[in-house]
Amino acid sequence: MSPKPLSKGHRPRLWIALDVPDAVTAEQWMRTFPEHRHYKVGMELFYQIGPQLLRQWIEEKELAIFLDLKLHDIPRTVAHSITGLERLGVRLTTIHLSGGTKMCEAAQAASRTMDIVGVSVLTSLDDGDLTAVGINGSVVDQLQRLAAIGRQAGLSGVVVSGRELPVITAVWPQARLVVPGIRRREDSPHDQKRVVTANQALSWGATDLVVGRTLLHAENPREIYEEFAALLQGEMLL
Ligand code: C5P
Repeated sequence: MSPKPLSKGHRPRLWIALDVPDAVTAEQWMRTFPEHRHYKVGMELFYQIGPQLLRQWIEEKELAIFLDLKLHDIPRTVAHSITGLERLGVRLTTIHLSGGTKMCEAAQAASRTMDIVGVSVLTSLDDGDLTAVGINGSVVDQLQRLAAIGRQAGLSGVVVSGRELPVITAVWPQARLVVPGIRRREDSPHDQKRVVTANQALSWGATDLVVGRTLLHAENPREIYEEFAALLQGEMLL
């Protein structure tokens, strides 16, 4: 399958990661950023709120949802799960590229309008962590292998640390590049090992930035949000 070209006019997006334990807290954050439409919902929140509320947010609040469930199972199971997620109206979702070419192809074949990006190497892992799970070679070697799988399967792109963006663009120039692990210079990396600033990520070609704790753990989240907006004014779709 040939890779999907990046949709024309795609401008970098900021996805606020709603890594919170319940709907009340998530909706409080939505009220903090009332102009914002793009939210990432991960396992922590989705397992608590379930699909009905998510669908309601999409339909009634008109939110664009990136549902980050990092699917990894046999091809048939993943394909059927993709069909279900698509019915909810989810815009973007993730599968693990390490599930292999057949799993990725089955997922892509099941998707009509939803974009699927492949998780490459988690931003919380480094070379030593890969060795510990029996993967030979560096993070960069593993990224190249996994990017080739995603590209061959016709996915929209990959989730990748900002530091390794050039590795992906070299082998897959049209990939949608979703970058978590975004920090300001003064922020703690927390459990992430390969963080970058928003500026760095954008200059290296990121198409989507995922920001969680930098906003949600900030003393003044509104101020940080506006910093992001100002930084990216003119090129960012909020
Ligand atoms: O709080 P922080 O900005 O580090 O959040 C990063 C978000 O991106 C989390 O929701 C995490 O699940 C997600 N993510 C990641 N690394 C990946 C894929 C997704 O950190 N490779």
